[in-house]
Amino acid sequence: MFDSAATAKSFVKDRQTLTIDYVPDRLLFRDEEARGLAETLSTVLKKELGRPSNLLLFGKPGTGKTAVVKSVLDRLTKKAAKLDIEITVPVINAKLANSAYKVLYEIAEYIGINREEKKVHFTGLSMGEATGRILQFIQKKKMHIILVIDEIDSLVDRNGDDVLYSFTRANDRMAKGGFITLIGISNSLTFKDKLDPRVRSSLSEEEMVFNPYKVDQLRQILLERAKLAFNEGAITDAAINLCAAIAGREHGDARKAIDLLRVAAELAERAHTGKVEEKHVRAAQEKIEKDTNFEVIRNATLHEKLVIIAITKSKNGNTGEVYEIYSALCKQADHDPLTQRRMTQIISMMDQLGLISTDIVNQGRYGRSQKIKLTVPLATIRDALKDDSLLSEFID
Ligand SMILES: Nc1ncnc2c1ncn2[C@@H]1O[C@H](COP(=O)(O)OP(=O)(O)O)[C@@H](O)[C@H]1O
Ligand SMILES: [Mg+2]
Repeated sequence: MFDSAATAKSFVKDRQTLTIDYVPDRLLFRDEEARGLAETLSTVLKKELGRPSNLLLFGKPGTGKTAVVKSVLDRLTKKAAKLDIEITVPVINAKLANSAYKVLYEIAEYIGINREEKKVHFTGLSMGEATGRILQFIQKKKMHIILVIDEIDSLVDRNGDDVLYSFTRANDRMAKGGFITLIGISNSLTFKDKLDPRVRSSLSEEEMVFNPYKVDQLRQILLERAKLAFNEGAITDAAINLCAAIAGREHGDARKAIDLLRVAAELAERAHTGKVEEKHVRAAQEKIEKDTNFEVIRNATLHEKLVIIAITKSKNGNTGEVYEIYSALCKQADHDPLTQRRMTQIISMMDQLGLISTDIVNQGRYGRSQKIKLTVPLATIRDALKDDSLLSEFID
């Protein structure tokens, strides 16, 4: 039974190159962005010039923002070390850090407050005090900080822009010695609208937009990556082209393209075929979609889940009927239903996530109404709700 598994020659040469965090040495089609960033930051290498401008980077997910910033910072740090210039470059992911407080905590850890000053009880501090403590420390040590806040939009969505305000203002108070340059990276193109005008203008002293990759660019990125990841001849060109085409349809997302490559390779390995082919890419696409839908449904709120179940039970799919079923389910579950208006918002959110589709249908003299349809197989929904004893009973 294990013979075939043991003898099957793995065609994966370096699995690590297919992981999410891997940053390749060569980032194709991003020379201009990398050069621009390097030029802005190079100020830090010339002592007399001082603080580089703050910078805001925008672009849809998977357009190479994080990869470019990491790669440029890596080079900058090495260069600085050679020149004996001390810089500190914390890279914080605000989405992973999950709260403004955690962001501050990670910055404090990175710059070494807790190593230096015994007994700084960061935990008991208010947000303002914690920020103050960090800034004091930077000033006292005359540190040169390039602070990257990746997925900065999720910080502002959750906690507003107070922390950013303090950081962008800090330099006025640190006239001598230390400074902070802030690099914000945002997946949302409308992020700036959420900022207080003062924060907006100082955070975006410079701006850079990352455009989506074209299908052919994705193809070349994948070809490069495949050379690192697979042994010779382990993937067909057709499979690579298909990954590129699918990811191209999803706003030119290189992450999606590489995810497809990784999952397709896993499926091909499991099937013991000698190479990755188109059919594995198609299966990978299905698997990724299923996994995503599954997670979204599993992590949905109670009312979102009840709305989903109501849609599965609805016959004609119009909002009124779905609302009636949803209200009845709420009653059964001993919960007050949300208003129909609120339910409609939930439905349009699920539409955006691709869990359902809504068509406007013309009903003659009765006017027009919305027809709501599930796009996720019932089995996925059942699977995602099976651990919830109450809700799983509602699905037939
Ligand atoms: N120009 C490129 N060349 C090679 N790989 C790239 C390129 N751009 C993005 N990638 C890869 O695609 C994935 C997503 O890129 P990432 O920088 O995380 O996107 P973003 O931060 O814009 O969402 C990463 O695995 C990254 O290595
Ligand atoms: Mg990113």
